Amino acid sequence: MQTHKLSILIAALIAISHYKDVAALTCSTGSGTSQACTDALAECFVKTDNGVVTRGCTTDPACAAPNCLKCKTDNCNAALMCKQCDATQSDCGRTTGANSSNVICGSPTQQCGTQLQSNGAVVRGCLNCAANDSNCKSCATDNCNVGIFPENRQLCYQCSGESCSNLDNSTMLLGCAIYQATGQKCYTIGTSATNMQRGCQSDTAADNKCSATSTDPSCLFCDNENGCNNRPYSRVLGSCYKCNDSDKCQLQQEASTATECAAAVYTQNVNSCYTQLLANGVVARGCTNELAAGCNASNNCDACEGNNCNAAVAVFKCLICRSDYYAPCREAEVGQENCPASSLTGPDAMKCFSGEWDGVVIRGCLSEASDVMKYQCSKDSPSRCTECSGMGCNDISYNVAATLQQMALSLFALICIVHKYI
Ligand SMILES: *[C@@H]1O[C@H](CO)[C@@H](O)[C@H](O)[C@H]1NC(C)=O
Ligand SMILES: *[C@@H]1O[C@H](CO)[C@@H](O)[C@H](O)[C@H]1NC(C)=O
Ligand SMILES: *[C@@H]1O[C@H](CO)[C@@H](O)[C@H](O)[C@H]1NC(C)=O
Ligand SMILES: *[C@@H]1O[C@H](CO)[C@@H](O)[C@H](O)[C@H]1NC(C)=O
Ligand SMILES: *[C@@H]1O[C@H](CO)[C@@H](O)[C@H](O)[C@H]1NC(C)=O
Repeated sequence: MQTHKLSILIAALIAISHYKDVAALTCSTGSGTSQACTDALAECFVKTDNGVVTRGCTTDPACAAPNCLKCKTDNCNAALMCKQCDATQSDCGRTTGANSSNVICGSPTQQCGTQLQSNGAVVRGCLNCAANDSNCKSCATDNCNVGIFPENRQLCYQCSGESCSNLDNSTMLLGCAIYQATGQKCYTIGTSATNMQRGCQSDTAADNKCSATSTDPSCLFCDNENGCNNRPYSRVLGSCYKCNDSDKCQLQQEASTATECAAAVYTQNVNSCYTQLLANGVVARGCTNELAAGCNASNNCDACEGNNCNAAVAVFKCLICRSDYYAPCREAEVGQENCPASSLTGPDAMKCFSGEWDGVVIRGCLSEASDVMKYQCSKDSPSRCTECSGMGCNDISYNVAATLQQMALSLFALICIVHKYI
């Protein structure tokens, strides 16, 4: 009986010591220290709480992913806690990774790392970068693998719809999902303040209307700085002189009488003003973005860039030159020059001419031409000369120069005909 009792005791002791062996889990408490857990059901944990990482033994059921991770082997929680996300998760590259899930590395020698993939995406996790891999960055403190990677990844506002007019840096200013070392652009496109879309030119999403191959003129691209695609749908860019009459509007405008322009859409970069010549000497001035028909030479409209830039006396302009005095005149390689105020009214108003008389090309304002020239330039006899309507319209090119001999022979006749242009 003694022996039997003894053997039960021994068996019990063995059982207890076994049980103790299993229960005596050792967990890291951080900084190279560790503790033996007192509770038989305890597990090791690593917990991150607003960036503060703690370690130890726990039986708390509230310790759960994503912020509290558990493991069950001695000092398994001594390994680093790292941010983890993969290349299929676009936020892995678009954000700092701070909101990605956490993982305990499988081995204490593993570091936290961030690695650029060949397709421009990013992975984060427990990884030790090769010594000379410039597309990989590893570090040896808990959750240190955060940050936009690579650091020069272009940041663009990325949003669409109603909220896209009130830009919020914390949720909309993101890295481009596809990294491009150079040439990365942000875009802005939209039809109203409540229907805007912003993003990266390299976005692969099907709803990217402004990819590199897009020719849509409503795509506004920029790459000068992070978040450059921040223009509201429309904004006031400046002011211009505004008038429309046959009296004072033609004259130099007086400072301080300029008026603010209507808000210009996001595709317009700088304020633009115009001066337009209308029939019967009427001159109109205003903001180009308020002119429905547009402004160009063919409607005798002259636009300028800047605030109140349309102050100057309104003038009609033509190419004015002679090829015997200035050879580039032949091919219209000359700038426009002012015609006199008389060119704003009358039958020859806002007309230019160009013609060739005995090898000499002459260009000018029709109101200044002699009666003979006017006759030759009129539609009735279009052989030598043509007249045209519109600012700087007399820009047709004439072919090879006549010989000097021809010119000399005709010089006298020429002087008689075109006296006003000598
Ligand atoms: C992380 O998530 C929180 C809560 O979901 C959010 O408020 C915050 O903007 C996110 N931060 C980043 C950088 O995405
Ligand atoms: C550096 O990278 C090259 C190829 O990318 C590789 O052949 C080489 O072994 C690497 N050197 C080190 C020290 O890792
Ligand atoms: C948002 O980010 C841009 C670009 O970095 C910066 O210029 C701007 O000041 C930020 N705006 C706010 C309100 O922080
Ligand atoms: C100027 O006034 C005339 C006559 O009222 C009008 O036909 C024309 O459209 C006006 N032009 C501009 C640019 O305002
Ligand atoms: C100039 O304006 C007219 C009238 O608005 C327009 O029909 C024409 O296409 C414009 N031409 C150019 C070159 O922009």
